[in-house]
Amino acid sequence: MDLGIEGRVALLTGASRGIGRACATALAAEGARVAICARGRESIEAAARDIARDTGGEVTAFAADMSRPDDVDRLLSGVAEAVGPVDILLANNGGPPRGGFDALDDEAWQAGFDVTMMSTVRLIRGVLPGMRERRWGRVLTVVSSSVRQPVDRLELSNALRPGIVGLFKSLAVTMGRDNVLFNCVAPGRILTERFLSGAKNAGMSEEAYAEKHRTTVPLGRLGRPEELADVVAFLASERASYINGATVIVDGGMIRSLH
Ligand SMILES: NC(=O)c1ccc[n+]([C@@H]2O[C@H](COP(=O)([O-])OP(=O)(O)OC[C@H]3O[C@@H](n4cnc5c(N)ncnc54)[C@H](OP(=O)(O)O)[C@@H]3O)[C@@H](O)[C@H]2O)c1
Repeated sequence: MDLGIEGRVALLTGASRGIGRACATALAAEGARVAICARGRESIEAAARDIARDTGGEVTAFAADMSRPDDVDRLLSGVAEAVGPVDILLANNGGPPRGGFDALDDEAWQAGFDVTMMSTVRLIRGVLPGMRERRWGRVLTVVSSSVRQPVDRLELSNALRPGIVGLFKSLAVTMGRDNVLFNCVAPGRILTERFLSGAKNAGMSEEAYAEKHRTTVPLGRLGRPEELADVVAFLASERASYINGATVIVDGGMIRSLH
């Protein structure tokens, strides 16, 4: 299937490893002109080189911290100047810190809000006017299966991510007439560094932690970042022209709820 996004400019944040990187690879393989960012300069530059080599695509790296408003502004102007006006945005912002409710003070709640909600709001604010003017846009974000069922000891994610789904649903309604589509992708258990970092929090070895979660998934295994990236590439594409306001769960059937 030709996804019809050759030459489209895609901006993906949190993309030096894990889910963001897999999504950048999938979009570059489809011929999109890709801009990626993460906080670590060396790792994001290495990721851009690797993705360009593996896909033959154009990939430009930016070092930026999405929890800092100045960095978001700098990223947006850097991408506009070096790559072009953004057609596809994947807001994927590293995720809020772990920790049960007792461990979270006001500062932790504010930091969680900044890195999840405000980074997404600022990125959308930066790209939306151009998308509306050109009457084509795909705005995507990576949330979590926590928007359907809370994850143990991840209160920040459980509380804040449903707000992002609400924001996307709201913008899907108001921006639809301009052909700017808003959709969320919600991973279940995807084998990445962040997933494995939960082992320490749970006081378990990485192997035992992965095994514990594997058994909760009907498919009997954890997901691969590439499996989520294929969904993102489709939603970012011309072919997904009538999908708007959706939250697509990619969890191997883990969440049992009907909605
Ligand atoms: N993996 C799962 O099973 C799972 C499940 C549900 C939800 N999620 C969510 O999916 C998203 C991606 O997770 P992942 O598993 O791919 O994580 P990961 O493997 O840890 O990768 C996170 C990426 O984001 C970058 N990053 C982190 N904080 C950032 C910030 N403030 N500004 C810019 N870039 C930042 C990291 O690079 P630097 O450290 O260099 O910045 C890295 O490139 C997260 O929001 C996570 O909570 C994941």
